[in-house]
Amino acid sequence: MHAWSTGAGNCRPAEVRMEIEGPVPNVSSQCEAILRTLPAWFGIESSILQYVRDAAELPTFVVRDAAQIVGFLTLREHFPAAWEVHCIAVRASHRGQGLGRALHEHVERWLAARGARVLQVKTMAAIHPSPEYAETREFYAALGYLPLQVFPLLWGPRLPVLQLVKVLAGFAPERGVYDRPARTLPANERAR
Ligand SMILES: CC(C)(COP(=O)(O)OP(=O)(O)OC[C@H]1O[C@@H](n2cnc3c(N)ncnc32)[C@H](O)[C@@H]1OP(=O)(O)O)[C@@H](O)C(=O)NCCC(=O)NCCS
Repeated sequence: MHAWSTGAGNCRPAEVRMEIEGPVPNVSSQCEAILRTLPAWFGIESSILQYVRDAAELPTFVVRDAAQIVGFLTLREHFPAAWEVHCIAVRASHRGQGLGRALHEHVERWLAARGARVLQVKTMAAIHPSPEYAETREFYAALGYLPLQVFPLLWGPRLPVLQLVKVLAGFAPERGVYDRPARTLPANERAR
């Protein structure tokens, strides 16, 4: 369990103790309650129910205050070194207070301790007009994710997907590995 205090810069008491735990079982109904506070992101009923089922199956981490779970993150393992943030959400009333970052950083440490090296996440691409998902992309950028590829049809028509990746701390390639002199680069990689 990881605990810290928050409060500065928001409307909550100066010292609100938050705790992060995970993976934890039997939290899918609390996860559902959080998703239902965020209809601009999670507005498709079948998707909500799938995320709720997934929270019961996948490693799920939570952040809670004294009263309730206020955020969660589910992980999917693709390979031992390559994992995916399957779903992350913070209760609408608690957004923008550092909880998403703290939860994600906890998960990064948990993954790194297990030898994971890269983390991916998929979200709505910028060619979709949603202002809410523009905020989500800002969040991932703040956490150090890099955009990797857009999949126009992965989630269906009119739901273009952006895949982002992050190399986990401790596993960034040593400086110099990609700094080969230009003459050794294949022609298609040389600066034009
Ligand atoms: C995305 C989400 C999990 C982030 O959690 P959060 O607690 O609100 O985010 P934090 O307060 O921890 O912010 C972390 C960083 O992201 C940035 N960020 C967060 N929300 C942002 C926004 N709306 N606009 C710009 N930047 C934002 C912050 O500037 C912050 O950067 P800093 O730590 O360097 O100051 C949460 O807002 C949420 O549940 N959003 C709706 C659901 C969603 O988008 N889920 C992901 C679907 S793919």
